[in-house]
Amino acid sequence: MQAPEPHLVDCALPPGLHLRRAATPEDVHAVLEAHLASFDEEDRLGLEWKLLHRPQHDPADLLLVEDTSTGQVVSSVSLVKETWTYEGIPLRVGEVGIVSTRPDYRKQGLVRTLFKAYHHLALREGCLLSVIAGIPYFYRQFGYAYALPMGGGWRLYAEQIPAPQEGEPSRYAVRRAGEGDMPALQALYRAATQGLCVAPVLEGDIWAYQDNLPEAASERKETYLLEENGRPCGYWRINANEGGWDKGVVFQAVYLPHREMCLEALRFARALALTRQEHTITLQVPLDIPLAQTMRDFGAQAVRGYAWYVRVLDPVRLMFTIAPALEARLAQSPFAGFDGALRLSLYREALLLRFRQGRLHSVSLSPDTHNADIRLPPEVAPMEWLGYRSIEEILSWWPDASCRDRTKERLADILFPKRPSWVPSTL
Ligand SMILES: CC(C)(COP(=O)(O)OP(=O)(O)OC[C@H]1O[C@@H](n2cnc3c(N)ncnc32)[C@H](O)[C@@H]1OP(=O)(O)O)[C@@H](O)C(=O)NCCC(=O)NCCS
Repeated sequence: MQAPEPHLVDCALPPGLHLRRAATPEDVHAVLEAHLASFDEEDRLGLEWKLLHRPQHDPADLLLVEDTSTGQVVSSVSLVKETWTYEGIPLRVGEVGIVSTRPDYRKQGLVRTLFKAYHHLALREGCLLSVIAGIPYFYRQFGYAYALPMGGGWRLYAEQIPAPQEGEPSRYAVRRAGEGDMPALQALYRAATQGLCVAPVLEGDIWAYQDNLPEAASERKETYLLEENGRPCGYWRINANEGGWDKGVVFQAVYLPHREMCLEALRFARALALTRQEHTITLQVPLDIPLAQTMRDFGAQAVRGYAWYVRVLDPVRLMFTIAPALEARLAQSPFAGFDGALRLSLYREALLLRFRQGRLHSVSLSPDTHNADIRLPPEVAPMEWLGYRSIEEILSWWPDASCRDRTKERLADILFPKRPSWVPSTL
């Protein structure tokens, strides 16, 4: 008999059910069939590609529960390992992939148990954060809180964009990006994400995978390159199909730093949207970028966004990893050269950050939550750490968040200011 894996031993399940990691392609197919009991048959293509063809996929990152009497997979979650950046510093992040339980097995705590095992696995794989683009409310029950923006942006109708004049010259050439364009696209992507607090690294193989999904896949994307005098100067990515949530033409990522480039992209989108079922053009980037401003000039309406669920798996390692960013913020503030500590009570434990001459000297977690400078409910702390909410917003919204004195509040605001982030899905 195989010895149980260390991170799965304390996962109690109802009798007759067994939790394990997938091992073979057959296991992955069994997981796919289990998901299809919860999703629609039209989701098959997208699910199949995510589970079987996404670059770097590994069956061992799938956790499943099987019914030992039938051998059927009845519930599963998956770990998708990604790299995100915090002020340009790489962070290892685990994204929870597809989650489902067959209808007859629901409300028995299977997903709760799978998440316990998943968190052990993600930690062992070195992930500092776990994130989910998930159904409303549900994942709060597993220690997740909404702590990074997702979607949201601007929308208008194609008819709101003036048609180009006959023979109107353009400074730019637009073409579909191909295999050889990846170095140029990566450079433009880096320019687009520069200056953001949190953003994902979009590796070339994942980019190509997303653009080369089967024609009918609702998540297939198209990337277009903008060139001036033969040199790449901008790009945009749109939905290839009008499936799922994405109707009309949706800009899912752009780097268009000049208004003329934005007009070029909007003329392109106008022509395409007029051939689609819905004539809308949406910018799904929640940042005040030139394309958002140009769309507003034409009367675009704001689109409400959603948010990423985040759970910080290892706050101590997170703080050490982002230390260069914290130190840079201190150095540019009236606290330059700071010698002292910031004691954050997370109610069930306290996180102590000690600085010496402006450098992060030590970080520790302790059960002693007395004498804290700042008290934050544990699910609220990541909102501050990731720049999603300012300390002022947190103190005014959460009655159980508090600050001992104004100096420490200012220090917290310097270390963890509210900052723009953009995290498109890399699944
Ligand atoms: C949502 C889903 C995954 C839950 O699976 P499950 O195995 O029944 O979940 P659990 O039994 O582990 O539930 C954990 C807790 O959430 C509660 N819960 C279950 N379904 C819930 C729901 N839809 N909304 C809110 N809470 C729910 C349970 O009562 C339980 O609470 P408790 O631990 O306090 O008793 C399952 O209903 C499903 O597959 N739905 C369809 C597919 C889907 O929506 N997947 C998610 C895509 S992100």
